[in-house]
Amino acid sequence: MQGQSRIPGFYKLSVDERRSQLGERVGLDAAELSRTLDHGGLDAASADKVVENVVGVYVLPFGVVLNLRLNGKDRIAPMVVEEPSVIAAASNAARIVRPCGGFQAEILSGHMTAQVQLYDVSDPLGAVRRLRENEEQLLALGADAVPNLIARGGGPRALEVRDLEDGFLVIHIHVDCGDAMGANLVNSVAEAVGPEMARLAQGRLGLRILSNLCDHRRVRVRCWAKGEDLAHGRDSNREDDDDIPGDEIIDAIVRASEFAERDPYRAATHNKGIMNGIDSVALATGNDYRAVEAGAHAFAARSGQYMPLAIWRREGDRLFGELELPLALGIVGGTLRVHPVARLALKLAHAKSANDLIMLAASVGLASNLAALRALATVGIQRGHMALHARSVAIAAGARHDQVERVAFALTNGGPITVESARRVLEELNGR
Ligand code: MEV
Repeated sequence: MQGQSRIPGFYKLSVDERRSQLGERVGLDAAELSRTLDHGGLDAASADKVVENVVGVYVLPFGVVLNLRLNGKDRIAPMVVEEPSVIAAASNAARIVRPCGGFQAEILSGHMTAQVQLYDVSDPLGAVRRLRENEEQLLALGADAVPNLIARGGGPRALEVRDLEDGFLVIHIHVDCGDAMGANLVNSVAEAVGPEMARLAQGRLGLRILSNLCDHRRVRVRCWAKGEDLAHGRDSNREDDDDIPGDEIIDAIVRASEFAERDPYRAATHNKGIMNGIDSVALATGNDYRAVEAGAHAFAARSGQYMPLAIWRREGDRLFGELELPLALGIVGGTLRVHPVARLALKLAHAKSANDLIMLAASVGLASNLAALRALATVGIQRGHMALHARSVAIAAGARHDQVERVAFALTNGGPITVESARRVLEELNGR
């Protein structure tokens, strides 16, 4: 496995060459990759079985994050995203933290939460007591609703009763959903136990639904980076004419973290950069990225002030970063049943369990954050964006694969970055 996620010059290869290199690394046939990826994986007839009123499909770019090391092992992370730079930036940050061991991640707790709302409870204290006394019986009732989950070793684990006053009680049921994201499972549990809860509480039954603030399913990921690696983080094959000392970059990233910690306006953008990575992995692997977003932002605001999900500090001569958030992803069920690209993404990721995928996605989130802060704290974000934009303009102007980099380089150094100027550069290159 050593070195498996390092593929120097990957970005310079053609799509077919990338597929064969990747196939070799992860033990997949390049032909299988092509078959699955060529048309986005889903045709209109299959899409028609997924949602309603289907008139077609909509495909997005599928790429991979390279250089990732997670808990001592090399990993490839699949990403689906339309925004240029995101994949390159995450790969670059993963490379920067590699010499310090890459990402260290752990699952802090692994249960999804269902909510049952009760109202018109005239004796809340008595209701809370009766619900707590009957916890075992209620959990068993919930378990009966999800026999397949029980067979796989999961199931309802604990109850929590919250008194929201004015006769309002909310009961949380914490459920181990195994390798599933678990929305349907916890909804089934909540619907199964709700009537008995209302009877015990002598109240009326309201909503029965999961909470997307799944703070009992949390992941933490950490990484360290040396100043010298931050200073020379860009791909060695590319131009890097900035000479900002690594030590200064560490201080600038710590200041950027403080900015987000003091200011919700900045925290929102800081977290958006993290979610660039996490959502893209969630989408690639067929997961519900809206649920992921809802949980992340609710968690960020849990203290009453909207805060950054990741913070950065100096530790001696190294930069230290830590990200913590609720994250509900699955590797079975849902979209995976119908979407061949999502299944392929899981194969590329070698995701052994839902927890494993959660740690991988969180690592990509922290990588995305580091890349953004490093760029913002040094040369600014636009230069990287412009370099990638120049490559697409070069392609649009008709540059051959082996000409793209040279045309893009000329465009970013001579401006303006337009198809017209790209054509002029191409004419010069072609000797016309
Ligand atoms: C852009 O998609 C994400 C950034 O704005 C994140 C950030 O500002 O930290 C670059």
